[in-house]
Amino acid sequence: MGAISPSRMSFGVLFLLLAFCIFCEIALAQDGGITRHYKFNIQMAKVTRLCHTKSMVTVNGKFPGPRIVAREGDRLLIEVVNNVPNNISIHWHGIRQLRSGWADGPAYITQCPIQTGQSYVYNFTVVGQRGTLFWHAHISWLRSTVYGPLIILPKKGVPYPFAKPYKEVPIIFGEWYNGDPEAIINQAMQTGGGPNVSDAYTINGLPGPLYNCSSAKDTFKLKVKPGKTYLLRLINAALNEDLFFSIANHSLTVVEADAIYVKPFQSDIVLLTPGQTTNLLLETKSQSPSANFLMAVSPYVTGLATFDNSTAAGILEYEIPSKSHHGNKRLPLFKPTLPAVNDTSFATNFTSKIRSLASPQYPANVPQNVDKHFFFTVGLGTSPCDHQNKSSCQGPNGTRFSASVNNVSFVQPNTALLQAHHSGQSNGVYSPDFPISPLHWFNYTGTPPNNTMVSNGTKVVVLPFNTSVEVIMQDTSILGAESHPLHLHGFNFFVVGQGFGNFDPKQDPKNFNLVDPIERNTVGVPPGGWVAIRFLADNPGVWFMHCHLEIHTSWGLKMAWLVLDGKLPNQKLLPPPKDLPKC
Ligand code: C2O
Repeated sequence: MGAISPSRMSFGVLFLLLAFCIFCEIALAQDGGITRHYKFNIQMAKVTRLCHTKSMVTVNGKFPGPRIVAREGDRLLIEVVNNVPNNISIHWHGIRQLRSGWADGPAYITQCPIQTGQSYVYNFTVVGQRGTLFWHAHISWLRSTVYGPLIILPKKGVPYPFAKPYKEVPIIFGEWYNGDPEAIINQAMQTGGGPNVSDAYTINGLPGPLYNCSSAKDTFKLKVKPGKTYLLRLINAALNEDLFFSIANHSLTVVEADAIYVKPFQSDIVLLTPGQTTNLLLETKSQSPSANFLMAVSPYVTGLATFDNSTAAGILEYEIPSKSHHGNKRLPLFKPTLPAVNDTSFATNFTSKIRSLASPQYPANVPQNVDKHFFFTVGLGTSPCDHQNKSSCQGPNGTRFSASVNNVSFVQPNTALLQAHHSGQSNGVYSPDFPISPLHWFNYTGTPPNNTMVSNGTKVVVLPFNTSVEVIMQDTSILGAESHPLHLHGFNFFVVGQGFGNFDPKQDPKNFNLVDPIERNTVGVPPGGWVAIRFLADNPGVWFMHCHLEIHTSWGLKMAWLVLDGKLPNQKLLPPPKDLPKC
């Protein structure tokens, strides 16, 4: 039987087919997704790593936490029940949360935390997104143990824009502390000094063989077959460090970043800031190579603070045909070479390769015109301390560490901004006067000014619905130039430009990429440099933006955007759910 050729098909049939297809589309669009239910029991569990056993906050007793899998178009109902003494809230990092800001999760921004014994159902639909994201606790430093993968598959029948992988493997990086991270951040906030650093990095919760007292069972093993393609879904859930990743003797192809397909490119080494995700294709060797291969994770550090300078490792093992007698133990082990901890040229080179696919099916809808321009300095600073209480003055030169955006260090309110906004009771909670640029110019990346004190406040930027926004984020050299992974809730943004030194508003915009820039939710501001991002404020609600280095968030490197409702009914924030936690 031959295929019907269009020339032989009557116009009537063609019309009917067309009409039917349009009808299918609508039916699919209205009924594309299903509802998936998950239950997260927040509970204490005993976990041992590096010969230290501790009781820690987990989801369902698991570390890392359970994997959430959905398809584009699905609705997720995740019931979170708090059975621990701490307050909790969970953020679905990278989910757009269209009109459903109540389910976004950052404590005191979109919701009050879920108190001990209480529960809350996060209710949201995944619209127009597919790829690798993650979820994590969004209060204090609880995300050090409360995190897990959030995987959005394409709609049924929609292929990836690359060869179908044989298998998919989530690989989530974290940081392990022998002590209690809550005690560590509380101590740092009391002393004004820097926090203790982690004792290990982890791959799927496991530090691997390069640490003292880390057993073989604490090593992540990826067993592969020769001649296959594996999709590795990388997630950096570490608290405070950007991380390099590489697998010995294997080259990797980057196909997605922050749940956006990219133009594929090869790289032996990849770099992820905290909050970023990257999908890689791994082609295994055509024949079983009679060797094992280390996959390693090490930090990329640009600031002056002490850091955990260690390497987590997992093992890539080829399945041995059952007839062979060799056990895996005798096989040689190859190790990858990772860049130096401060290899900024690698970072720059790598990030410049990441481009949106920008195809008809996956277009890059970069805002071509800008309604509102913002210039934000991001970086560290200092706060005065009470000299009566010397133990609280352990920051630089007898001050306290702080951090800010446009010199405003964000003060966490004691009720949620979104609730205050929605109920019209914002007075005394926040003010709408976040500065659009620094109040005083200084040479941001030169010799720091004499006065490094920050101001404090709970300020937001108010945006009318559908404002097209450009933000230049400029690192400062106060207390050392440093790369800051800035994360925006509620939106993806396009990274239209970046550079070193001070942003030049005359020259630099000429080089902006408005064609195929990467679209993402977290971007590393280069150390002593700047990035330019654009987004369309088409999602009403209150949206947090902060450095995803948790210590910088603790110190105040955070702010919020308040996007107003639009005129049409489908441009308005939905009403708050009945079980929304109270403060
Ligand atoms: Cu992944 Cu506001 O965070």
